[in-house]
Amino acid sequence: MDGNGRWARKRFMPRGVGHKAGVDALVKVVQAAADRHIGFLTVFAFSSENWKRPEEEVSGLMSLLLVALSKHLVKLKADGVRIRVVGDLANVSEKVRNALLEAQAATVDNSRLILTVAFNYGGRWDIVQAARQAMLAGVPADQLDEATLSRYMAMNYAPDPDLFIRTGGEVRLSNFLLWQSAYAELYFTDCLWPDFDDRELDKALASYVQRERRFGDVGSSGEGEGAIGSGDDNDDGRAGTSDAV
Ligand code: FPP
Repeated sequence: MDGNGRWARKRFMPRGVGHKAGVDALVKVVQAAADRHIGFLTVFAFSSENWKRPEEEVSGLMSLLLVALSKHLVKLKADGVRIRVVGDLANVSEKVRNALLEAQAATVDNSRLILTVAFNYGGRWDIVQAARQAMLAGVPADQLDEATLSRYMAMNYAPDPDLFIRTGGEVRLSNFLLWQSAYAELYFTDCLWPDFDDRELDKALASYVQRERRFGDVGSSGEGEGAIGSGDDNDDGRAGTSDAV
């Protein structure tokens, strides 16, 4: 969800105003995704690297998270959204950790859309924590394969993402879902996150359905290969396209 700062600067406003507008955009995009029967939506709300930002901005983002949860949780719950959090919560304040865990608990019975909030998350952190957990569980080195390590990744409850969207004009992954995005279709847009809405989501989905997903195979001219939810199988036997963004 990149571009909040620039969105604010264009309006001669502080960066925090951009982040606030970013929350409003997120709430609308969650609704739009649910309306389009997208089953999994994962957002990068705070990266392990975001601590490098000025203290004022970091504390502003933490406060914004608390305000956003208290403002929107009831509606998200009523709309069938299940919130899940991935990231290193041991190193965030108790207040923020509790608010995130409470949001998870409050929506545990929902299943219409799984909204994963990546918070104090990094793709490399995730791979390391999975390896550590596997070692602690006593998985022998010669039995540690991709499927086994996947079971210890933070998002082991979700299919790999079909579509990876980055707003704000940067063309890089910035340590998001590195393991899980191995075969994700990448979509980069100059649109700044606060301007991202249902129309922008539809543009991303329209781009996605044009793609031919081969998963390392030679591909075919078969029908509907790029369709989200088309349910093909990958060459490694995992479920294929599965409606995850
Ligand atoms: C990147 O834009 C955005 C973030 C670091 C925060 C994203 C958070 C939200 C949209 C709100 C939801 C999450 C919380 C924590 C309440 P940027 O600031 O790097 O934008 P820039 O590249 O234009 O400076």
